[in-house]
Amino acid sequence: MNKTVSPAIQVYPDPASASRALAAEIADLIRSREKKALPTVLGLATGGTPLPLYQELRRLHAENDLSFHNVITFNLDEYLGLDHDDAHSYWQFMHQQLFHHVDIQPQNIHIPDGTITPADLAAYGRSYEQAIRDAGGIDLQILGIGTNGHIGFNEPGTPRDSRTGPVDLSEKTRRDNAVHFSGLQLVPTRAITMGCATILDAKRIALLAWGERKAAIIRDALHAPLSPSLPASYLQEHPATTFYLDQPAASKLL
Ligand code: PGA
Repeated sequence: MNKTVSPAIQVYPDPASASRALAAEIADLIRSREKKALPTVLGLATGGTPLPLYQELRRLHAENDLSFHNVITFNLDEYLGLDHDDAHSYWQFMHQQLFHHVDIQPQNIHIPDGTITPADLAAYGRSYEQAIRDAGGIDLQILGIGTNGHIGFNEPGTPRDSRTGPVDLSEKTRRDNAVHFSGLQLVPTRAITMGCATILDAKRIALLAWGERKAAIIRDALHAPLSPSLPASYLQEHPATTFYLDQPAASKLL
């Protein structure tokens, strides 16, 4: 993984068509592994970006017999201090957007637990990493990107070799995410996230970005020098990453 290989770039007219293309690839992956009696391990993201992807996966399950019975999932992150029942938790997000609608087995769902106490967080992070390894590693990781270049909740300054653990959220991220809360002061200040190295261990990565507000960071993620100040730039070294963009998000590409 030392040689720089540019991620592949696919540009679509809108988020819905990009999400349909990726969902079709995910369906093929699940079905081809199922034929070999293998599970499919998906790394999943939250936020506004993957909503049309989850909508399409729900449709493929309902109308196209796509089964999630052999799918194992690992979510990227969770706010610290929010429990499962909190409407703002990513646990709720994932269940409402996907898991309640498909036939995934509850024991195959992994979402970092936002209620782990500070003393137990290091051990919890190691156990999350171990669970990913025990599942055989992530076959396909879905990623969004923050306007500050974060992946998962790995904020600017995060080293390439970081692993699952607690992080402080940047002011920028809290402001971006305040739209989902009733005010900035209610946005948690800490989270637990898969590390950069955890993400980069995935066999394939699909990064999704929509809209003009992501155009500058997409350009930098692909073309700026690799740097901890821009964690998404680490993807330049990943051998099998594809950026799925709508036209506005691709509008600043060289
Ligand atoms: P968004 O967030 O999908 O809500 O834009 C993306 C991210 O922060 O990774």
